[in-house]
Amino acid sequence: DDKSTVSITVVGASGDLAKKKIFPALFALYYEDCLPKHFTIFGYARSKMTDAELRNMVRKTLTCRIDKRENCGEKMEEFLSRCFYQSGQYDSEENFEELDKKLKEHEAGRVSNRLFYLSIPPNIFVNAVKCATLSATSANGWTRVIVEKPFGRDSESSAALTSALKQYLEEDQIFRIDHYLGKELIENLSVLRFSNLIFEPLWSRQYIRNVQLIFSEDFGTEGRGGYFDHYGIIRDIMQNHLLQILAIFAMETPVSLDAEDIRNEKVKVLRSMMPLRADDVVIGQYKSHTKGGVSYPGYTDDKTVPNDSLTPTFAAAALFINNARWDGVPFLMKAGKALHNRRAEIRVQFRHVPGNLYNRSFGTDLDRATNELVIRVQPDEAIYLKINNKVPGLGMRLDRSNLNLLYKARYSKEIPCAYERLLLDAIEGERRLFIRSDELDAAWSLFTPLLKELDEKKIIPEYYPYGSRGPVGAHYLAAKYNVKWGDLG
Ligand code: BG6
Repeated sequence: DDKSTVSITVVGASGDLAKKKIFPALFALYYEDCLPKHFTIFGYARSKMTDAELRNMVRKTLTCRIDKRENCGEKMEEFLSRCFYQSGQYDSEENFEELDKKLKEHEAGRVSNRLFYLSIPPNIFVNAVKCATLSATSANGWTRVIVEKPFGRDSESSAALTSALKQYLEEDQIFRIDHYLGKELIENLSVLRFSNLIFEPLWSRQYIRNVQLIFSEDFGTEGRGGYFDHYGIIRDIMQNHLLQILAIFAMETPVSLDAEDIRNEKVKVLRSMMPLRADDVVIGQYKSHTKGGVSYPGYTDDKTVPNDSLTPTFAAAALFINNARWDGVPFLMKAGKALHNRRAEIRVQFRHVPGNLYNRSFGTDLDRATNELVIRVQPDEAIYLKINNKVPGLGMRLDRSNLNLLYKARYSKEIPCAYERLLLDAIEGERRLFIRSDELDAAWSLFTPLLKELDEKKIIPEYYPYGSRGPVGAHYLAAKYNVKWGDLG
C-alpha cells in the first residue's frame, strides 16, 4: 500500500550467496511485480563501495531465469535504481546507525518494515543481529531477520546460537531458511498427498516398503573446502535439507495450512525418531580420479582442506520413525559430492502385491515388480509412478512403464528459484517454509550423538573416486534392510 514501505538489507552483500542467489531472486520478484510498491534494497558489507559499484556488481553477476525475458534490461535498470549500498563493520552499532539514517530517508515517513538477510558467516551472526536490532530496528513497523545455516555444529552450539539470537529477537522475527523448502516439488509434496485421493491412503507402513531421499552433486567442494571441512556432508545436507523433506513427507495431516499447524506436525515426526546409530551410517570421501585424460582432484587436494581430513563428503543413513504410521519402514538417505550425476529425489518403494497372479512374469526378483513413486526435485523436475504393464501383443508379457508428469512437458512457465519464494514469504510474514527453533533442536538431537562419535573415534571414511557412484558400503547398508537403491536402475 501507499502508507508503508519495506527495506531489505542484504548483510554480506558482496558474498557469493548474495551475488548468486539473493539479488537475482529479488530482481525476479521485482520483474514479476511481487515486491511491494514502496521498497528499497540496501547492500551492507565491510568493503567500501558506492551505490553505482554495487549496482554494477549486481548487474554483472545477475544470472537468473529472467535473463532471457523481454525488456529484462529496462526492468533491471528500474530495479537497480532502488538498490543502495552502505559500508560498515558487522559488529558496529555506529555503522548500523548510519544505515538506519539512510533507511529513514528512503522511508520518507511511511510505516517502516525492515527485513535483514544475514548472508554472513555464523560466527558473526549474533553481533550483526545485536547491532542491527539495537541501531536499525523499525520504529513503527516490523523487523525481521533471515538467517541461513549452518545453525551451529551440534545440539549445544545450535541452542547457544538460538538463545543468543533471542536476546535481541522474538522467535517470530527469526526466519531460518532451509532453501530446499522453497523448491517447487517440495512445496508440492503436501498437495500431492493431501489433495489427491489415491496417495494418502497408501502413505503408511501398510503399503510402503521404504522411502529413499537422495541428493547427489557431480562436483566437489571447489573453493568451499574451508567452510565444508568444518561441517561435512551430514551437517551440510542431511541434518537439514533431507531431514526437512522427510518431515514433510511423513507428517500427519495438519489441522490447516497455517504455519504453526504444519510445523507442529513436522516437529512431531522429528521427535518420534530415534537418534541415528553409527552402524546405520556409511561415510565416504572422494579421491582424485582421471577419466578420459582429465584428472579430477580429490577432496584433500583442495588447498583449503587439511591433508589428513576425515570429513565425509558422502554419507548414507537409515532412519526410522517410531510411530503407528511408519513403524519399521526404513527411510534411507544418501548424500554426496563429486558423484556421477547431479540429482535430488524422493523414491517411495511400495510393497509386493500379495498373491500376485503375475508373479511368474518377474522371475525370482519380486522387487522388480513393485510400484515406485519418484519425485524428482531437480534437475528436470518430474513426478512419475512405475507400474507394471502388459506389453501390447498376443502373448502375455509384462514390463515396467512410467506414468510420467514431466514438468517441462506439462507447464510452460519456468520454475522459480527457491530463494524467490522464501524471500517473498519473509516479506509477507508467511512462516510455513521456515524452521522453528523446536524443529531445529529436534533435528540436531537426531544427529548430534552420531556426529560426536564420528569425530571422537576418528572414523575413516570409505574412499570413492571422483565422478563415481559413491562407496560400496551404501549398498550393504541398504541390503541390511532389504532395500535396493532405486537410483541405480
Ligand atoms: C547448500 C549446501 O545448502 O546446498 C551446498 O551448503 C550444496 O553444499 C547446496 O551444494 C545445494 O543446493 P542446490 O539448490 O544447488 O541443490
